[in-house]
Amino acid sequence: MNAPIAGPVEDPIDAYRIVSEPFYRPFAQEVGHYEAAYAARLPILLKGPTGCGKTRFVEHMAWRLKRPLVTVSCHEDMTASDLVGRFLLDADGTVWHDGPLTAAVRHGAICYLDEVVEARQDTTVVIHSLTDHRRHLPLEKKNELVQAHPDFQLVISYNPGYQSVLKDLKESTRQRFCAISFDYPDAAIEAEIVAREAGVEPETARVLVRVAERSRNLKGHGLREGASTRMLIAAGQLTAQGVPLEEACQIAIVLPLVDEPEIRAAMSSAVSACL
Ligand SMILES: Nc1ncnc2c1ncn2[C@@H]1O[C@H](COP(=O)(O)OP(=O)(O)OP(=O)(O)O)[C@@H](O)[C@H]1O
Ligand SMILES: [Mg+2]
Repeated sequence: MNAPIAGPVEDPIDAYRIVSEPFYRPFAQEVGHYEAAYAARLPILLKGPTGCGKTRFVEHMAWRLKRPLVTVSCHEDMTASDLVGRFLLDADGTVWHDGPLTAAVRHGAICYLDEVVEARQDTTVVIHSLTDHRRHLPLEKKNELVQAHPDFQLVISYNPGYQSVLKDLKESTRQRFCAISFDYPDAAIEAEIVAREAGVEPETARVLVRVAERSRNLKGHGLREGASTRMLIAAGQLTAQGVPLEEACQIAIVLPLVDEPEIRAAMSSAVSACL
């Protein structure tokens, strides 16, 4: 769901405006690069592992650029109609309902398609004419061509680690986007984020980041992924509720990450070594 939303709603798109600044700690030039791409109305692809700040970054940028943000979590059952819209029956017959993408295109919002490769290919093809010089969206069922509002921008996210070849982005899709690459930030910055987001002391945050570093080193050696910044924040939040740090690491990091008893034992001793 989008971050804090506005009060009284007049235009329905206003519900998607972000009124207070979402905290985002930059780690490189990503804010400037996004602003440049937005100024040229270029679509953007955010690449990076789970829980590293992609969604938070888009929320922050939408706030900075004062644009409403329409977020769609893509999944394999999603159809083009789920994005674009459909005719629905009501008392007066059939009435067209814009889908989230169409609403963003008409009203000049930023549309964020999260995990876009999860969607079926017919869905991704819908975005092609929006992400080149045409900037329009054909509503075939309605026989309408919607020209994008000048402020409209499309942003998609993609986690290169997880997808199979079958579920990769089509070349004709990926070549329409500028990309910003994300990863877990340097230890000092990540500790700053964890301390702030979880409301814990800097020293606790530093310990959690050390745990994350250990887990990330185990990637490929029994772990599919290391602990994300999101997991560290969850562990921090548990300690803020009074759960001892080692237990918090078990509940929020080790158990969700690992099923196999041997790797769990290795991970647990890595945690103990960090405390
Ligand atoms: N640079 C950052 N500044 C501020 N908060 C951050 C930053 N990076 C990560 N976070 C924190 O980590 C949490 C997870 O980040 P976010 O939800 O943006 O990840 P994501 O990359 O979108 O993950 P997914 O691919 O699973 O959707 C955020 O809720 C936020 O608390
Ligand atoms: Mg996300």
